Amino acid sequence: MSYQVALVPGDGIGPEVMVHATEILDAIGDKYDHVFNYVELEAGGKAIDSTGEPLPADTLEAAQQCDALLLAAVGGPKWDTLPGHLRPERALLGLRAGLGVFANLRPAALLPQLRQACPIKDEVLAASNPEGKASFDLLIVRELTGGLYFGKRGRIDEASGGHSPGAAFDTETYSWTEIERVLRAGYDAAKVRRHKLCIVDKANVLESSRYWREVAAVVSKDYPDIETSYLYVDNAAMQLIRAPGQFDVIVTSNLFGDILSDEASVLTGSIGMLPSASLGSPADPLAKNGRPMGMYEPIHGSAPDIADQDIANPLAMILSAAMMLRYSFGLEKEAKDIERAVNKVLDDGLRTKDIVNRSSGGANEKVVGTKEMGAAVRKALEE
Ligand code: NAD
Ligand code: IPM
Ligand code: MN
Repeated sequence: MSYQVALVPGDGIGPEVMVHATEILDAIGDKYDHVFNYVELEAGGKAIDSTGEPLPADTLEAAQQCDALLLAAVGGPKWDTLPGHLRPERALLGLRAGLGVFANLRPAALLPQLRQACPIKDEVLAASNPEGKASFDLLIVRELTGGLYFGKRGRIDEASGGHSPGAAFDTETYSWTEIERVLRAGYDAAKVRRHKLCIVDKANVLESSRYWREVAAVVSKDYPDIETSYLYVDNAAMQLIRAPGQFDVIVTSNLFGDILSDEASVLTGSIGMLPSASLGSPADPLAKNGRPMGMYEPIHGSAPDIADQDIANPLAMILSAAMMLRYSFGLEKEAKDIERAVNKVLDDGLRTKDIVNRSSGGANEKVVGTKEMGAAVRKALEE
């Protein structure tokens, strides 16, 4: 079978990590007899430099035509002083909205090989783990196309050209439909996990959060075998560090999900480990072969501080490609094979700098660069 994959390598470390995702997809293609055709697209800083806009219309149109979109990262200091609507990050928001991918799945689990790269003590991890292990395995389902990121925003002092003291505002709006569909995505995920779902909000202050709870009260009735709980986001941020094993699926708003997933990534060893899948509705006109439209990206950014040094961790990008195989193409065996290969290189002690065992010096660990790590995963696919 052949698949059309839109690629946005983007800025900073983006192209450095993307090349390994495509190499690995090609190796999977050879091994299992699939063809991945890539449509490379410009978005973010690169597109600003060549066209003046972060998301050229033809980029979005081409992405909509493809079977899935794989994106590395966009942004960087070069474009940080541009007005909001011209910044590279607008491309991300435009692609997410334009593809209708409202449910962003961000899995965060501690792999045993990276135990020492997790900053939490054994006894603290074990205390909240259902099996008493020094480990955790959670999934953040982040609402991705609404909330504060997409609400009305502006300046109140526009008339004076911003020269006199004024004000600025951003707003959070969530419709019943937006909340319901992301909650259902969370419940569906919980069904095939440990049957627990925690809604993280700020319902003690925000009206929109109270509305989330009203929707949840109705939707949860359709999932009687899933235990629903609620936490305020400040407490949730604390609980993630104090007792991460208590969580199975967390469903939360766009902004809270962004923040909590970076926090959770540290518990897994590094932000360079976490992939994500953003999915739309199977009923959307952009759905392909009955599967929702999908956009796949690591949760990290363009990491300008380490760009062009061959030290970025490519595993989050590679694991995002595995999620694409699973969710967009239904290629479960192939997705698992990539995950097995990643596990194998970690078993062999290979570590990019960000996941070196910091506490014990990591006697059996070998620090490798981006290219060596990518090549090792590819080789592990042949074994
Ligand atoms: P970042 O995620 O790029 O980097 C944060 C820290 O993590 C840095 O110290 C970086 O070196 C490290 N890091 C990130 N990815 C890594 C990897 N794969 N391997 C090793 N270390 C890694 O966040 P930031 O510095 O706040 O943002 C930099 C730029 O990226 C900004 O322009 C931001 O808007 C953008 N950004 C883009 C995306 C995206 O395109 N999806 C996501 C987040 C941030
Ligand atoms: C992410 C990023 C983006 C977000 C930014 C760059 C717009 O932080 O994908 O996590 O906040 O969604
Ligand atoms: Mn983020």
